[in-house]
This record gives sequence, C-alpha cells and structure tokens, in this order.
Amino acid sequence: MSKDRYWRAISIDSILPEHFPNVALFLMSGGNYVLYKAPDRVFTVDDYSRLKRNNTEFLYVRSGDMESINEFMERGLAKMLSRDDLSGNAKGRILYQTSVNCLIDLFESPETTDNQIRCRNMVQHILQQLATDTHALESLKSIVGHNFYIFTHSVQVAALSLLVHSELFTLAHDEMVDIGTGSLLHDYGMTFITSEILERNDALSDIEYYKVKQHTQQGYEYFKHSGNYSEIVLNIVRYHHERYDGNGYPTGIKGDDIPRSGQVAAICDVYSALTMDRPQRKANSHTDTIMIMREEAKKGAFNLELFNNFLEIINERNVG
Ligand SMILES: [Fe+2]
Repeated sequence: MSKDRYWRAISIDSILPEHFPNVALFLMSGGNYVLYKAPDRVFTVDDYSRLKRNNTEFLYVRSGDMESINEFMERGLAKMLSRDDLSGNAKGRILYQTSVNCLIDLFESPETTDNQIRCRNMVQHILQQLATDTHALESLKSIVGHNFYIFTHSVQVAALSLLVHSELFTLAHDEMVDIGTGSLLHDYGMTFITSEILERNDALSDIEYYKVKQHTQQGYEYFKHSGNYSEIVLNIVRYHHERYDGNGYPTGIKGDDIPRSGQVAAICDVYSALTMDRPQRKANSHTDTIMIMREEAKKGAFNLELFNNFLEIINERNVG
C-alpha cells in the first residue's frame, strides 16, 4: 500500500477560514508532507491569502481526519457552491474533491444507507453544477493526480455521463440520479481484484487480463444481489465495457442490445481513462484522445451517432 493512501488533498478554497474543523493541515514540500497548521490552531483569512499569494492550491490532511472533514464539507457544500466570490473553477474543484472523498467511503461500505444517501446528494450537486456552470468539466482536470485513480476516474465518468444524458435525452430526475450513481459505481467490481494485478505497470498475462475483465460481471452481481440498486445502475456497472460491434465484455452483446446508459458509459469511460495518467503510461491530450477514439469509433466500437454527439458536447464545453 503506498504512503499516499494516508494523505488526502484538500483544495484551499474549500478551507473556510475560522470555520474549518480542528485538524492538522500539511503542505507538500519536496515530496514530503510538512505540517502547516497544528490541529488546535485556527486557519485564518491571513493563512488563506498567504497560500493564495504563493499559488498553493492544495493542502493535505491525514486520511484519519477525513470523517470530520467530509461531514464539514458535505454540510457546507450547497452554500459553498452558491457563493459569488468563488470562481466556477474553484467550485468545481471543491465539488469534485468532495465527491471523490464521498466515493471512497461508498466503495468501503456500499450497503450503508447513509453512504447511499450521501452519494445521491453528491450526484444532485454535480447535476446542478453542470447545469449552472458551462465550464464545470474543466475543473475536473485540476484534481487529477491528487487522488486515487479509480475514484477520480469514477467522478469524471459520472460528470460526463450526466452531461451527455442531460443534453441528449429526456430523463426523469430520479433516472438521472441513477445514471450518476451507476457511473460512480461502475468500476466497483475492481475491488474484488487483487492489488498486485491492479498496480502492475507491465503487461498483464492472459489470465490476469481475464480476471480484470471480470470486474463488470462481479460488480453487477454484487449490486444485483444487494437489491438496493435500480436497473439503470446495474446496466451501467455491467455493460460499460461492451462495444457496439460486439467485441466488448462481459457478455459480448452488440448494437442497441446494449442499454443506452451502457453505451454512454462506455464512451465516457474510455475518454476519462485515456486522459488520465496510468501506471503504464502518461495521460493523452484531449486531441490525441479524440483521435484514438475516432479510429475506434470508425472500426465500430461505439454507436457512431452517439459518439459524434459526445464530441460536440465536450467541444462545446471546452473540455480540451
Ligand atoms: Fe471498468
């Protein structure tokens, strides 16, 4: 387990002076975490201005302190997102970070009602932010690298899927929340795969690759068995690696036999995965990602009409 597991990044915009919980805050300096504020010292407006002047974007906390921070951030989120003095980008960073932190808890105990409610609330905030801020997706990029891949990736897929569904289709609010929830949980099945396989940075053997591919079916069976999740959620978890030409997994169904939510999730999943750093390779630029995906789409991997609509939507939102 890497030492980063013990640290979480907090955007300084989300540290409300005078109100932040009594936890120690650390600065990252030369690859080390250096104490910036002891738990009993109050974080002041001067602290905030000084850090801003030095272009410090993030402070770090010990993961053991996350419970009180999550509570503080989730309680204040609606207020924070409606503040006029924060830029859209700052709000986006706060929102995505809070979502990532919430998702970490959800992955740890997905059956806790409290975590499910938190997760649904988070999806509603993301929806709201996407509707009010046309640049809401840009701030996603700034949190990449500060958190664990799978959680950041899941929040990205959720934001992208929600955006695509809200621009292209007419869904009831509850269905949209299910789209968001399914996207947040789409890779939950990865938790059944041993970390040696997931952290490998060389090529996987056939057997290992087979095991990784099982995450779709395993996640699906887990949530189906729990009985707490709707068909939309189950479809996204199960079908996000299916391909339009039938070359995907786990079932190999093709064309419009793949539920629409699964088709959208597949496109958003690939886009997000390619634009993020992975142990085996660096992140691709937006332009390169589109080029790679266009080739795949031409070969039949995605529903072409849906893919073209996706491109239009993300170009409109200046994601690149
Ligand atoms: Fe996946």
